[in-house]
Amino acid sequence: MQQVKAVIARSKAAPVELVTINVPDPGPGEAVVAVQACGVCHTDLHYREGGINDEFPFLLGHEAAGVVEAVGEGVTSVAPGDFVVLNWRAVCGQCRACNRGQAQYCFATHNATQKMTLEDGTELSPALGIGAFAEKTLVAAGQCTKVDPSARPAAVGLLGCGVMAGIGAAINTGAVTRGKSVAVIGCGGVGAAAIAGSALAGASPIIAVDIDDSKLEKATTLGATHTVNSSQEDPVEAIKRISAATYPGAEGADVVIEAVGRPETWKQAFYARDLAGTVVLVGVPTPDMQVPEIPLIDVFGRGGALKSSWYGDCLPSRDFPMLVDLYQQGRLDLDAFVTEEIGIDGVEAAFEKMHHGNVLRSVVVL
Ligand code: APR
Ligand code: ZN
Ligand code: ZN
Repeated sequence: MQQVKAVIARSKAAPVELVTINVPDPGPGEAVVAVQACGVCHTDLHYREGGINDEFPFLLGHEAAGVVEAVGEGVTSVAPGDFVVLNWRAVCGQCRACNRGQAQYCFATHNATQKMTLEDGTELSPALGIGAFAEKTLVAAGQCTKVDPSARPAAVGLLGCGVMAGIGAAINTGAVTRGKSVAVIGCGGVGAAAIAGSALAGASPIIAVDIDDSKLEKATTLGATHTVNSSQEDPVEAIKRISAATYPGAEGADVVIEAVGRPETWKQAFYARDLAGTVVLVGVPTPDMQVPEIPLIDVFGRGGALKSSWYGDCLPSRDFPMLVDLYQQGRLDLDAFVTEEIGIDGVEAAFEKMHHGNVLRSVVVL
């Protein structure tokens, strides 16, 4: 057991606190990771506000990279000294999803078995099974994916959540390739990553839609070929027009990615896709939201696929090393997502900035 500094949310909607926590030595199948960088994500704020569940206190932080310090019995996939990116859950390798080659849908994912605790023994709930606003954290070994150790931790740690969700929504869920048109509705961290992923795949045009011009500017630097401010023009008409300019006769984009998580933007995505096109929902709706009313005949008549993308349908062991290599080669600009590097005492201020601003990601660097 060792004691380290960490950021917790002790009770509903209270500001976060920097405290000392106890990190157990790794048990069978577990690893302790010395965290080098961890992005501040909306989901951390969501935990802090009690929007996920009531299992306070939470150990926040879940978009992280670091170095494996120690491993428990039976761990062979990583060793002390390995540079790793963390993922939410280790896959089991045995369930029906794993057996049919779709481990990204594993029904029996797991995290570390032992609990990290406060100094008084109170058990902590690690955000998304990670808890990486901490100098060290305890995870399941399967949550660690070894990547190129010369990569910048603050940049590649972001693959652990939002950036992977966006890139994966495009290349995994949406099957975006060269020769396809793509529209992305909502260009925050997730949507911007979907644009970067679409550019990586060689799609064109790539149409960025947002209500905020600064997000659209950023989208352009990441590979958007066209921008639409949907507070000023009808995004459905704009996407149809721009797609048809490249592919005459197209009635929308081949793939439309919804990265806001709202019924009205999902409905825009539905009508902005070409016949037989694909809609990908990657924005996370709240539990009270309903599927918008759409005539069933439109669902039938337009064909194609209505999909949702859970964690970018990623398989960390397959996708993280590949994307880190592309980043190292200068083909994927992960640095563009790091708006600022902050200390471990800067998490509360980073939450504040989320509400008003040009921040894709604040990243805690340890
Ligand atoms: N039309 C177009 N864009 C919109 C609209 C709208 N009606 N409403 C909001 N947006 C834009 C915002 O301007 C912002 O750029 O959507 C973007 C949302 O981005 P972020 O708040 O940065 O969220 P992000 O981290 O990208 O996550 C996207 O997935 O994980 C969930 O909770 C998260 O629902 C959110 C979504
Ligand atoms: Zn499984
Ligand atoms: Zn996240």
